[in-house]
Amino acid sequence: MAEIRFEDIFKSYGSHHVHSGLNLTIKDGECFTLLGPSGCGKSVLMRMIAGFEMPDRGKIFIGDRLVSDGGTGDTVQPNLRDLGVVFQDYAVWPHMSVFDNIAYPLKIAKENATDIKDRVMQIVKLVNLTGLEKRMPSQLSGGQQQRVALGRALVANPSLMLLDEPLNNLDANLREEMRFEIKELQKKLKITIFYVTHDQEIALALSDRIAIMDHKGNVMQVGSPVDVFENPANDFVFKFLGVSNFLPVEQNAGCLMVGQQELLVDNKPDIKAEKLVVAFRPSDVHISRTGTGLKGKIVRASFLGADMDYLVDVESRIIRTQLNTYKALQENLILKEGDECSVNLSAVTWFDETKMHTEGVS
Ligand SMILES: Nc1ncnc2c1ncn2[C@@H]1O[C@H](COP(=O)(O)OP(=O)(O)OP(=O)(O)O)[C@@H](O)[C@H]1O
Ligand SMILES: [Mg+2]
Repeated sequence: MAEIRFEDIFKSYGSHHVHSGLNLTIKDGECFTLLGPSGCGKSVLMRMIAGFEMPDRGKIFIGDRLVSDGGTGDTVQPNLRDLGVVFQDYAVWPHMSVFDNIAYPLKIAKENATDIKDRVMQIVKLVNLTGLEKRMPSQLSGGQQQRVALGRALVANPSLMLLDEPLNNLDANLREEMRFEIKELQKKLKITIFYVTHDQEIALALSDRIAIMDHKGNVMQVGSPVDVFENPANDFVFKFLGVSNFLPVEQNAGCLMVGQQELLVDNKPDIKAEKLVVAFRPSDVHISRTGTGLKGKIVRASFLGADMDYLVDVESRIIRTQLNTYKALQENLILKEGDECSVNLSAVTWFDETKMHTEGVS
């Protein structure tokens, strides 16, 4: 049983409050991602679960076991918490071979040599490193080194894995490959994974549930990837989950106005406020050369290969849109800077401007 439960966790360094009353439960067997900006306290939380830091107040449970009690100072030693950890930037040991790196936790636990060999070879196969056991880390690619770190975390058969930005130093292709591998491993081994990242793509692809944290360590929303993406609790969550457009809109005598132009959308706001902000993704923007919609002008046109990326000036506000290059070619929508166009929006989300969290609405 490897549920993790944080109960009212407080953690400060001097006058800097990193966590102030954090409550969160990670269910047994799920892949749970904590997504938040740099400095919001993700690694601090990891270190507290692993037992390398104590909360100032509050309790951490793994399964039914109270492993850290900030009130009394009672703590279970890190090596007795039945977990595997891949820390952020925590590389493999450079002076040990792949085999020895992975075997290390078992040697520390004084297991016998035959058992160690069997288990390490099992893990080597599991993380796709067969044939590389004798190599030193300097003879491995970044992705292979990450797999060694994963193997070392898995070797003692933990019921819980803590992964702190384990794919940070990999290029985009490898990162994508590894995130599928981690997901596969989790399905195969049925362990609980607590994954920490500031990369929303990884979080959406990997997780059963995601928690989104703001800069101050407040949990803004917890839900499935589809949940948080489709029904964001607020503008911070919306913004953190992908490229976003925020456009100020005024409600005036039943009309939705963007500057001097009326905005026509299918899903009207059900918020009473006069000043609203409409939020949408680049893919929710539909442009045409003529026709109805907000009138705008292309201020930047970029060819991204599969997509065309445009910045459109509408009433001195900038909207970013992307459309499939093939479609753009077919529909005569390869536009250039200075071209006039019409903009329509679909699948928009509404926010009350006075309750916005994020700054820099454009
Ligand atoms: N040992 C420490 N002493 C003092 N301050 C610390 C210590 N560890 C962390 N902090 C501070 O606590 C805050 C949270 O740090 P943490 O490492 O958890 O951030 P993070 O969310 O993991 O960020 P990143 O995405 O950049 O890794 C930061 O402001 C950091 O400077
Ligand atoms: Mg960190």
